[in-house]
Amino acid sequence: MSTRSTVILGTGAYAPRRVLTNEDLAHTVDTSDEWIRTRTGIRERRIAGEGENTSDMGVAAAKAALADAGLVPADIDLLVVATVTPDMPMPAAACMIQHKLGVPTTAACFDLNAACSGFIYALDTASAMLTSGRYTKALVIGVEKLSAVVDWKDRTTCVLFGDGAGAVVMGLGAEPGRGLLGTKLGAFGESVDLLCIPRGGSAAPATVESLANGGHFIKMKGKEVFKVAVRAMDEAARDILEQHQLRADQIALVIPHQANLRIIEAISEYLELPMERFFVNLERYGNTSAASIPLALDEARRSGRIKPGDVTLLVAFGAGLTYGSALIRW
Ligand code: COA
Repeated sequence: MSTRSTVILGTGAYAPRRVLTNEDLAHTVDTSDEWIRTRTGIRERRIAGEGENTSDMGVAAAKAALADAGLVPADIDLLVVATVTPDMPMPAAACMIQHKLGVPTTAACFDLNAACSGFIYALDTASAMLTSGRYTKALVIGVEKLSAVVDWKDRTTCVLFGDGAGAVVMGLGAEPGRGLLGTKLGAFGESVDLLCIPRGGSAAPATVESLANGGHFIKMKGKEVFKVAVRAMDEAARDILEQHQLRADQIALVIPHQANLRIIEAISEYLELPMERFFVNLERYGNTSAASIPLALDEARRSGRIKPGDVTLLVAFGAGLTYGSALIRW
């Protein structure tokens, strides 16, 4: 194992301007603000504007992260984008972001699909590539335009998701014991059908019938996902704490995937760590999948919730069903 550490040099985020409230949704599907708030904690979400794509939101978050790091696109030699909603199935959103941002053509650029755990998977991947010594500065972006793959007539899913982006700039650290201390990744592939977009892939290319049946939209078995999510996040958190010989109460702030307040409350109870130690912003954004953790991380940093020396725990789950956790010492 490499002894070199990787650090986060800057963070940034972007949320589209358009706000869609629970009340707005209650006009289009049979739901209510009260139902959505009590079952999920969500009050509103952001929706990308006309012609505003995943790559545009990714660029906006990346610019903010680069500015925070005091770096420019020319410094970047690795660009990893976690997303399940690239502008097109091919090529990677990373290549579009590279071009729009002006990242050099010598940079490695690719997308990574681990759904809502995508940002933690991307952090791990970028960190390993940096410590290989072959890259020096990585831009890691989590970005989603879920409004494009949500069935706006399905009240069981459309109330949950939103659009947004978050980004970090990573580099090699000088001090051992500071930066990304470690990650724990995994997946329950037997549960792919609990949360998926069943049509439009190579197994079932889109047809007139599949489009009419909404097969190209997100399908979810919410109750089952809830149960696996709580178990997976609890285990991913415990495993990484044990691996690094840390107790839960040594974690200054947990930044969990922002899917549902009840899931986060369950994790808080299982880890016996009060909710004050959990950063929650899902009431304003809903579930933005791979964007959720970097968006929350940026808000947490900018609002002073993260201090030098603090240890932050990131923990997520998502379609796959993937899960992941990461520990960062600032
Ligand atoms: N508004 C009003 N009623 C709704 C509704 C909505 N938006 N969505 C579902 N309902 C109804 C259901 O039809 C059901 O009615 P019924 O009892 O007449 O059949 C009732 O509310 C209860 O539905 P249920 O699915 O049991 O609710 P729940 O307490 O399990 O909450 C979720 C549903 C989706 C909020 C919850 O299961 C969840 O958050 N799961 C995890 C989802 C997730 O995080 N996915 C992303 C993974 S990254």
